[in-house]
Amino acid sequence: MTIATPVTIALSKGRIFEETVPLLAAAGIAVTEDVEKSRKLIFDTNQPHVRVVLVRASDVPVYVQYGGADLGVSGLDSLIEHGGQGLYQPLDLQIARCRVSVAVRNGFDYAHAVKQGARLRIATKYPEIARHFFAKKGVHVDMVKLYGSMELAPLTGMADAIVDLVSTGNTLKANDLVEVEPIMDISSRLVVNQASLKLKQAPLRHIIDAFAQAVAAKNN
Ligand code: PRP
Repeated sequence: MTIATPVTIALSKGRIFEETVPLLAAAGIAVTEDVEKSRKLIFDTNQPHVRVVLVRASDVPVYVQYGGADLGVSGLDSLIEHGGQGLYQPLDLQIARCRVSVAVRNGFDYAHAVKQGARLRIATKYPEIARHFFAKKGVHVDMVKLYGSMELAPLTGMADAIVDLVSTGNTLKANDLVEVEPIMDISSRLVVNQASLKLKQAPLRHIIDAFAQAVAAKNN
């Protein structure tokens, strides 16, 4: 199908991009360049009116909210931190699966500290998720917001624990950290700008439906 109305799709490099490629293919869309090797931020596709923009994972909901992109693929982690304002979230794409967990330095007795009612210092890129989790547990925390390499925080003594994404667990292991409590399962969601959905209904519906069918087919 040819899509005549211009459509901009926001993606982030890495797993989300890789696992979105087959979904785009199901909608007849293929990026025509090697995204991982390029420094470019805007990419053409085989569809003359569809382009892909590459942004940081945490910025995908922002670009879609403000109309910098009509739709995007965002991890649930980034979506929760963003808050989801102005976004239509029609689909759990069930890709880039991982979890958000609490991790500590090997040897730190997290269970004991929690039981004692200790005040914990938590380093994380995910303050909303962490705040909500510890509030529900009744654990008092001080939050230190970081933007990456969270593993360093407990190793340097800057924090008692981190709240971070865990997939294989290799990063924690390589840094002598242990996962002590899972917080939530994460997968990527399709997010759509609400105004775009009205103004560009036909092309966006085509993409949403194709993604939905591809996700359903994969699960059967
Ligand atoms: C995430 C997370 C960990 C790593 C966990 O980082 O922050 O560093 O993946 O994966 P593993 O359990 O398979 O080792 P990501 O690669 O998303 O990049 P980031 O450092 O920019 O968050």
